[in-house]
Amino acid sequence: MDKNMEQKLIARAFEAQKRAYVPYSGFSVGAALLAKDGKVYLGCNIENATYTPTNCAERTAFFKAVSEGVTEFEAIAIVGGKKDASREEGKLCPPCGVCRQVMQEFCDAETFQVILAVSEENYRVFTLKELLPLGFGPEHLQ
Ligand code: THU
Repeated sequence: MDKNMEQKLIARAFEAQKRAYVPYSGFSVGAALLAKDGKVYLGCNIENATYTPTNCAERTAFFKAVSEGVTEFEAIAIVGGKKDASREEGKLCPPCGVCRQVMQEFCDAETFQVILAVSEENYRVFTLKELLPLGFGPEHLQ
């Protein structure tokens, strides 16, 4: 993916982060998931007073797409932090293990790009395989 597309996706992730519902942790996460057909699905984390139903931003984006019939993906941009702290501290927000497993279900681990961003200019790109080596996927059940 070219740099311009990476930066556009990061900007969309920041847009999604604004809608995070985080009354308990105060930690806002935004994700922008690029499907192979070019559509972008946004997700934010959504917390709950009973804690465990909390849904991560990445899974919100995936489940929105899959529930609309879209199951082929190219990349996801992720941003997160306490208010604007992540930009100031330069911290990346790596996806949790559960979200990596959801990515494994729908994505080609060798090619799916996970863009972890502090800002549009400061970011790192990983393949899913780098973040989840030897992942268990649908092919293992065949
Ligand atoms: N969170 C995400 O949305 N994505 C991640 O990959 C890491 C964690 C959320 C869950 C919870 O609402 C808050 O961040 C603190 O864990």
